[in-house]
Amino acid sequence: MKNVLRFILPLLVVLGVLALVASVLAERLAMRWALRDLEARDHLIVNTLATSLAPLLLAELEPAVILTVMTRATRDERLMAVGLCGPDGALRIGTESLPPGMDCRNAPRPGASKRALVDLDTGPAHVMAFPLDPQHPDQTGLILVHDLSYLTKRIADAHGYVFLFFTVLTGLVSVVTVVVARVSLRRWVSAVRAAMTQVGTSAGEASAAPGEIQPILQEVRTLVRELKGGVRERDDSLVRWDPSVLREVIARELAGDEVIAVSNREPYIHVRGKDGAVDVRFPASGLVSALDPVMRACGGTWVAHGSGDADREVADEHARVRVPPQDPAYTLRRVWLSAEEEQGYYYGFANEGLWPLCHLAHARPQFRSADWEQYQRVNRRFADAVVEESRSEDPIVLVQDYHLALLPRMIQERLPASTVITFWHIPWPNPEAFAICPWREEILEGLLGSTILGFHTRFHCNNFIDTVDRTLESRIDREYSTVSYHQQTTLVQHYPISVECPSRWLQGQPSVPEARLRVRSANAMAKDVRLGVGVDRLDYTKGIVERLRAVERLLDTRPEWVGRFSFVQIAAPSRSDIERYRRFSEEVTAVAAAINERFARPGYAPVYLRVAHHSPPEVFEYYRGADLCFVSSLHDGMNLVAKEFVSARDDEQGVLLLSLFTGASRELPEALVVNPYDTDECARALHRALVMTPEEQRSRMRRMRGYVREYNIYRWAGRMLMDAARIRARNRLLSRCPDLSAQ
Ligand code: F6P
Repeated sequence: MKNVLRFILPLLVVLGVLALVASVLAERLAMRWALRDLEARDHLIVNTLATSLAPLLLAELEPAVILTVMTRATRDERLMAVGLCGPDGALRIGTESLPPGMDCRNAPRPGASKRALVDLDTGPAHVMAFPLDPQHPDQTGLILVHDLSYLTKRIADAHGYVFLFFTVLTGLVSVVTVVVARVSLRRWVSAVRAAMTQVGTSAGEASAAPGEIQPILQEVRTLVRELKGGVRERDDSLVRWDPSVLREVIARELAGDEVIAVSNREPYIHVRGKDGAVDVRFPASGLVSALDPVMRACGGTWVAHGSGDADREVADEHARVRVPPQDPAYTLRRVWLSAEEEQGYYYGFANEGLWPLCHLAHARPQFRSADWEQYQRVNRRFADAVVEESRSEDPIVLVQDYHLALLPRMIQERLPASTVITFWHIPWPNPEAFAICPWREEILEGLLGSTILGFHTRFHCNNFIDTVDRTLESRIDREYSTVSYHQQTTLVQHYPISVECPSRWLQGQPSVPEARLRVRSANAMAKDVRLGVGVDRLDYTKGIVERLRAVERLLDTRPEWVGRFSFVQIAAPSRSDIERYRRFSEEVTAVAAAINERFARPGYAPVYLRVAHHSPPEVFEYYRGADLCFVSSLHDGMNLVAKEFVSARDDEQGVLLLSLFTGASRELPEALVVNPYDTDECARALHRALVMTPEEQRSRMRRMRGYVREYNIYRWAGRMLMDAARIRARNRLLSRCPDLSAQ
């Protein structure tokens, strides 16, 4: 519309000026024709009157007789008055309509037609004096006065026609111009789009675009080739992703754009210890272990719920604190929640509703309106914090997980130029399962405010797209994996999350033989006991009961391991305000106790249940001191414990038992992949792990380590950020040429 106006307005001005000029010319022309016409008529009238008056004058008849003849002549509608002058030019006889004071002395003669135009009280008139006998111009004369009001009307009509003509012309020219422009633009745009999408193909290079736009097409091709080629080249060539490569990508691809991460869980929790001092705790959270290295590499701000009891003490008046405490690299902005907000949003909607909804672990989701109210309210509070923290209009916002499903659209509405990358850390269920959520549309609409929506696996992406397909009126492009909804297109892509490898927690770790001794001695175990380890939050989706049952079955079926094999379960207390979690904790405790009751003997216990928070270095010591690690989740987006175990084993020993129902099992097939519901299979796998030769362990572990090193957390973040950079570059190109996006 703007472009059309830009063209039409000057056209209107030009045509307006032309109309004005045409009006003036038309007026002059009408006037000239009228005067010429009048003079001819005057001569005719004078000749006629001369013929009638000459005998009367010769006969010297009464003036009244002469006046009658002259008055008869004025019956002509345009001849207003006639006067008869004597040889001295003074008026002798004049018709009644002759304006007073008019005589042949002051009236112009033929040839002076300009002076003949006068304005009388009755309107415009034409006055001219003629000799009655052209042979004797100094004798009797006639003065003729014509009413010109008809001419004024004729000129007004001429103006009207000129105006009408130019109005119709303007309309026609505008319509034709707009149609021609639209058709040309469409051709132009198709040609540019073809050049953008077909770069590198013979079709694209040899496009049959009109010659006049070939130069610009050439430029577009070059630009798109640079964008495409650049991204692929970097992705392929940078085999080893590390913090410096990630920093380089951010600096180069995103020109140092601002990065803001948002999650419920904060990466550093300040708690008051028993001795009264403030301790820093690193939470048991896959999300945190993945994102913290990324934020340390790229700086920026991380917005999260301040949940520690000493959090407020260490934060400034804006709720900000620099972290990691020992080596600050980014800002943690805390959001303070009331007990009521935390209850409804975190425990209620997120963890009693969405968590069981998304995990197939036979727990019934609870949906309460009051929780939903709090969930919306807290999402808005996080959006406020993001807007407050944003220093630019177009930050890159990394929204994390199911606690903040409404946040992407809220951010998109308040910071429309931002790029929102949302990552869903848990599985996405199939459409039938998701359909039971009473607020399914709102959740999907919230997530579709994202520029990019990431899941761990392609399977979860497909579930999400199918769910949108069933729930919302949207446009889905399965080839490009995009969903367009309310003018926003979201790229739905899988980005398998990973860990830092090599891990920073390896620094300062004892050697593997020493770690073996330390964990055994810390648990008062025999030095030579074979050890398995499980590391989880105390969560019913993690398959901890199934795991312990498998240990029990091993001891039942392979009694040679009784006294020679123990299992340490590290269980971080989690979400203990929720009844389901409390019951689960009791169940795990009871199962562990029952197994120990059956198989324990002096100096030996088969199961060591350690329900407590363990720091990452403590956990790493267990990974390194164990013979095997058992991950038996009933359903898990990825499970980073599996990858952490692999990254901890720089000795290339140790066996990973991995549930079929984790995202990680797709990436680590060298693990012993098991169905946690199949207790016998799991017991057999435990035995197989315990008897596996060091060579086989090395060969499996080496391959897994190679994979985790290559597909580490920096690649996870880098791929998302590079996709974001590509989308931002494309949007910038489209904003310079807005009609491209309208096609
Ligand atoms: O990995 C899934 C996840 O829910 C994360 O989102 C979360 O940070 C982690 O598990 C721990 O859960 P929570 O934050 O409730 O302690």
